[in-house]
Amino acid sequence: MAWISVRPGRKEPEDWWHAAKTSISAVISQSGVDPAEIKGLGISGQMHGLVMLDKAGNVLRRSIIWSDQRTAKECEQITERVGAERLIAITANPALTGFTASKILWVRNNEPEIYEKCAHILLPKDFVRYKLTGEFATEVSDASGMQLLDVPNRCWSAEVLEKLSIDESLLGKVYESPEVTGVLTSGAAAETGLKAGTPVVGGAGDNAAAAVGTGVVRDGLAFTTIGSSGVVYAHSSNISIDPLGRVHTFCCAVPGAWHVMGVHQAAGLSLKWLRDTVCIPEMAEAEKQGVDPYVVMGAEAEKIAPGSDRLIYLPYLNGERTPHLDPNCRGVFFGLSGIHQRPHLIRAVMEGVSYSLRDSISILRGMNIEPKEMMVTGGGGRGPLWRQMLADNFHCPVKTVDTKEGPALGVAILAGVGTGLYGSVPEACEALIHGDVIQNPLDASAAYYDRAYPLYQQLYRDLKDSFVRLAAL
Ligand code: XUL
Repeated sequence: MAWISVRPGRKEPEDWWHAAKTSISAVISQSGVDPAEIKGLGISGQMHGLVMLDKAGNVLRRSIIWSDQRTAKECEQITERVGAERLIAITANPALTGFTASKILWVRNNEPEIYEKCAHILLPKDFVRYKLTGEFATEVSDASGMQLLDVPNRCWSAEVLEKLSIDESLLGKVYESPEVTGVLTSGAAAETGLKAGTPVVGGAGDNAAAAVGTGVVRDGLAFTTIGSSGVVYAHSSNISIDPLGRVHTFCCAVPGAWHVMGVHQAAGLSLKWLRDTVCIPEMAEAEKQGVDPYVVMGAEAEKIAPGSDRLIYLPYLNGERTPHLDPNCRGVFFGLSGIHQRPHLIRAVMEGVSYSLRDSISILRGMNIEPKEMMVTGGGGRGPLWRQMLADNFHCPVKTVDTKEGPALGVAILAGVGTGLYGSVPEACEALIHGDVIQNPLDASAAYYDRAYPLYQQLYRDLKDSFVRLAAL
């Protein structure tokens, strides 16, 4: 994808390892913590990305990451080979361009010489695990997003692997998220400053990790993330699958439990795109004030009334998963007029992302998953304006926790559980995570969004065929 850059001469996985080891050694040297006091490590990362290694553990090609949409044809092959109903029954999801299985097939179809040499397939964070421990392993929450896991039974699916002709020996061993998967090698210890022999637990994909880091580990609890992607996530101690596949059901980091989540491809990414392409004056002003550009952008958006003077944004920069499962749709500003200025665009982007997240909560409610509490996390959740839009659109209070480190804290907690500091994930969350600010829906803006949301929904329906024609141009 155009905005993904790696350092010259490196492929993404090598960059991730470089970033991980330099940050770990910076933390060790700057914090003054004695590495011998570190009981264990947990790892989290973006989900679904494909990392292929040869027999010697060398990275074979650039990673095809979660947001890459090139695999529509491979998704058709998966559905044909496994059967739509079996696929949902086993992997709890329909074939999706974002998921890893279609990316594996894409490499096999388009780069057979690379596939031939592939000896190990890993997810992004599991490549970091390999560099830390020398083990080829994963854990259930991230493995659920590969479309090769039997999600109800929490193990690789022999049936799906056989139907897709993928050899199980290519995949790592699957653990529960708090289980110890290996220990730090002496080589990794030398590169990071950690102590050889330190246990490394399974950890979790970014969303399952954020759930632990915000205490969403019991029924009735949920969170929304506005990171690059947008997610509405609800914990569930029973497996519950949307037969239409609009939301994902995955194993969660609490052993024996699942989560259901809607995913939006370009949430924070939409605002980042606007910042980098349009909000050049805001960036300059932020530099002058010594603050984050999003603070300046948020202050400008705050001056505009709900509805952005009849400007609606569809956040489909990267196609969309929930609810459309459509790799062809694209971003839209609808209703632009001469009165609109940059602050309107900023507010409209934030509102469009909020409407898209509302799509997810509506589907969850339709599945009888009614969160009693909605935590908000991710960079986009830091400002009160976006959180207010969520409260207004979700018709429920939204809450933050008193730490900012969602996924990182989540996997630290998993390390604490795996190394025996805590008896269980819920027990550790109870001890370590505390609620902070609560925002309630505001009547006037909630009523406005109730009127605008059906139009937002209608716009996709109106444009669906045009998106296909656009993709074919
Ligand atoms: C989840 C998903 C994203 C990525 C990137 O299905 O695709 O959350 O993990 O954050």
